[in-house]
Amino acid sequence: MCGIVAYIGGRTAEPLLIEGLKRLEYRGYDSAGIATIEGGALRVARSVGRVSELEERLHEAGGFAGSLGIAHTRWATHGGVNEANCHPHRDDRNGIAMVHNGIIENYASLRTYLEEKGHTFSSETDTEVLAMLIGELYEDDLERAVKAALREVTGAYAIAVICEKEPGTLVVARKGSPLMVGVGNGEYVVASDASAIVAHTSQAFPLADYNVVRITREGFRTSTIDDTPVTPKISQLELDLEQIEIGTFSHFMQKEIFEQPKVLATTLRGRIDRNEGRVVLGGLANFSKELVKARRFILTAQGTALHSAMIGEYLLEDLAKISAEVEFGSEFRYRNPIIEENTVVVGVSQSGETADTLSAVIEAKDRGALALGVVNVVGSTMARETDAGVYLRVGPEIGVASTKAFTGQVMVLTMLALYMARRRFMSPDVCARCLTQLEAVPDKIARALETNDRVRQVTERYVDRDNWLFLGRGYNYPTALEGALKLKEISYIHAEGMPAAEMKHGPIALIDDGMPAVFIANQGRQYEKVMSNIAEVRSRGGHVIAVATEGDTEIAKVAEEVLYIPECEEFLSPMLAVVPLQLMAYHAAVLRGHDVDKPRNLAKSVTVE
Ligand code: F6R
Repeated sequence: MCGIVAYIGGRTAEPLLIEGLKRLEYRGYDSAGIATIEGGALRVARSVGRVSELEERLHEAGGFAGSLGIAHTRWATHGGVNEANCHPHRDDRNGIAMVHNGIIENYASLRTYLEEKGHTFSSETDTEVLAMLIGELYEDDLERAVKAALREVTGAYAIAVICEKEPGTLVVARKGSPLMVGVGNGEYVVASDASAIVAHTSQAFPLADYNVVRITREGFRTSTIDDTPVTPKISQLELDLEQIEIGTFSHFMQKEIFEQPKVLATTLRGRIDRNEGRVVLGGLANFSKELVKARRFILTAQGTALHSAMIGEYLLEDLAKISAEVEFGSEFRYRNPIIEENTVVVGVSQSGETADTLSAVIEAKDRGALALGVVNVVGSTMARETDAGVYLRVGPEIGVASTKAFTGQVMVLTMLALYMARRRFMSPDVCARCLTQLEAVPDKIARALETNDRVRQVTERYVDRDNWLFLGRGYNYPTALEGALKLKEISYIHAEGMPAAEMKHGPIALIDDGMPAVFIANQGRQYEKVMSNIAEVRSRGGHVIAVATEGDTEIAKVAEEVLYIPECEEFLSPMLAVVPLQLMAYHAAVLRGHDVDKPRNLAKSVTVE
């Protein structure tokens, strides 16, 4: 949700900033802009559309030569998508330029105050208000003005600010939105995430909330907005360039779907002790006593992560026999939730920055719950705000539509459920058997990926249909929701997911001979019931595409199309059943000619509520 990159050092900033913006483009891509200081004067270029359009504009202008600069790729919140609302924004007096990710909540009252002081605004954004406030408070020290302004604002921000009166200074700050400082040799790269830093240095530190860093070519100084000095911990980035390159794939989403076997093996690595029949989750080690006493789990998340949390609910109840429920982060916080003693809240999030999920976890923690994070991005806000947690280890997810993070989340939640089960009642032998099955999942996903050509053929047959249903039961009801979400978000086809039995309580009225209905009909406790639901759709003219277990010949008699996945224990089936659904959404988007990795209106990492 908006990407920021800033540079100060000995090199020309512009190419480095543009390359950084391209890496961050998945965070927002409706407009982009850059500002540098060149010969003591500010130069700014902004453009609606993709970073490549900004690049073209800069090329036509002969490029910017400064070695200090800030840049931004936007996902609009305040104000429409037009050039006036693009970042960087400037003040109207002191040659200050600023880029911002987040929302300044009290921007309206600040704007009125600044207008009364005679400032004139040229955009509708909250960011321009903050830039103007910094300008209003500026005397002769940019850092001091930034701190003074930030003490006046409420909301969330990651900002990078430059001023033509101080052509050797970059000031960055954060509250609520992520920002990292990459420390190179005589140069610094600041960015919303490590992907824009790693090509230049592997040493970096994340900013904590309310921290401000003043950076010059000679060094940097970190303090809070109230001037308390802070010593940041510089560490090695856990990311290499290969992980963020597209390689031989056409899209990041395709790459991420196909790398699931490999990354899920990494998720499991070192965490399975089959001899002892137990799961080893180092991140939970300090809280094993609290976890033994746990009486209730609340899993909170949004979007795809919510679907994996729903599977987590089934897993915790089914395997660990512990009460579990799932909540949208966005709803939980505003509901006056009841948190009893021995409640564990689990925030499930790829980015670890989703504002709705974060605020729910913090709310539950404040009310006495033990807070765990099931997070992919190392060092993210969720990872830091929770008491303990388990990382997904699936590597950076760049395609906006989440795929490998989903299976990674389900994998971690499966381990968490087995960890709890073993602590509560499960024998080492039973656990070891489950773990053997779990360890086979990456290879089985590799086999499920072999359906790719067949999925493309089936998708081609129905891709012109504008309404789809996705139906499943038990563990695969959330998988059906995920299949529908994937199709919606990248192919813009209307799709609904629901429990298969729910269909006859209303939605069956939609079925006609134009409607594809995708059933997850793997072998399991509810197989016969799903078969009856399939018959109900077929008898009303609907087209049935079934995801079924290899060797099931019966299903081919009732479904028009069958996509086979390897046999597995029911509790592991969502990780396999989702694979053809991910592929289906991918092929539908490609066939419809959409930008798979950057679907319209979306952005990865939704850092506003
Ligand atoms: C869908 C998708 C979103 C995210 C949701 C939560 O493909 O990516 O629905 O799952 O915005 O994001 P995280 O997992 O970063 O909290």
